[in-house]
Amino acid sequence: MSDIEAIRAQLLGDIEAAADAGAVEALRVAALGKAGSITGLLKTLGGMSPEERQVQGPAIHGLRESVTAALAARKDVLDAAALDVRLAAEAIDMTLPADAAPRGSVHPVSQVMDELAEIFADMGFAVATGPEIEDDWRNFTALNIPETHPARAMHDTFYFPDANAEGQKMLLRTHTSPVQIRTMMSQEPPIRIIAPGRVYRSDSDATHTPMFHQVEGLVIDRGIHMGHLKWTLETFLKAYFERDDIVLRLRPSYFPFTEPSAEVDVGYKQEKGRRIVGGNGDDEGHAWMELLGSGMVNRRVIANCGLDPDEWQGFAFGVGVDRLAMLKYGMDDLRAFFDGDLRWLSHYGFGALSVPTLSGGISA
Ligand code: PHE
Repeated sequence: MSDIEAIRAQLLGDIEAAADAGAVEALRVAALGKAGSITGLLKTLGGMSPEERQVQGPAIHGLRESVTAALAARKDVLDAAALDVRLAAEAIDMTLPADAAPRGSVHPVSQVMDELAEIFADMGFAVATGPEIEDDWRNFTALNIPETHPARAMHDTFYFPDANAEGQKMLLRTHTSPVQIRTMMSQEPPIRIIAPGRVYRSDSDATHTPMFHQVEGLVIDRGIHMGHLKWTLETFLKAYFERDDIVLRLRPSYFPFTEPSAEVDVGYKQEKGRRIVGGNGDDEGHAWMELLGSGMVNRRVIANCGLDPDEWQGFAFGVGVDRLAMLKYGMDDLRAFFDGDLRWLSHYGFGALSVPTLSGGISA
């Protein structure tokens, strides 16, 4: 066996026996590095006679190639084995039960929105959504609140400095009512939707925050009247508060987009620093909390959306989600909802795995 064959046999054996990537690299340096054995052989070619070089040259280059290939092959094998070890160590058994002590909790606002979706789904309502950045026409004009209407001032609107491509003023929606417009313009009646989401008004104290949450309700069909509205609200509030002795007060009111309009208050009493819904209202010193605005959808709004108001009627309502949460779960400062205080969240938050259902309990 020539020198070269002996070197080849030795190196290939060593490479095959290398136990890890570090050993492979050490062998590479020893053979092919600057001072490596094969590098040394290549250097001897310069001092050879042409005849000798013709024999030795291909032999040495061949040696280098086979060693290079063996190093790469060994490295692949070791890498694959290392990956297998890692995959085995990091494997997650998806069939195991979830962590028994989950750290996160569901925010009361999300919980209440889930409860509302569940209650209204049972009455045949779908969930609709719209953007928080809205245009002036959908937030106001289409809802029968023209430019000069005093209701615009009441809304303390956050406007954007620039108009959109159609020259519409842009704003942060002040209520979820623009989703009524979006729904009527994109769907054929009959329509039954609720639209939960964030709304914005420049207002801030213990019961008002610049961002808060509403759920809009909209029903459009033939022959809809106030009776349907009242039944729907009563059924919803009884299911939501999980008690039958809910006292509601419907007061005549005014909204440009409903006619007639009614404001709905719910009676509550204060008990050990906690609000309890279902008191008798004023008679026993209990208080009323204004919960929602509602009414029959104004004919003009129906017409603005391209529907014939002689054929289609409906009712709409808008509820403050944060207020619903405060009343049911006994918080008294709205601002705490948005402070992100972990103590508040772990006290008032809901288990991430308990989903509200009508059969399993809405506040499960
Ligand atoms: N959009 C009204 C508000 O934010 C509430 C409302 C909705 C009233 C639908 C009537 C009908 O105050």
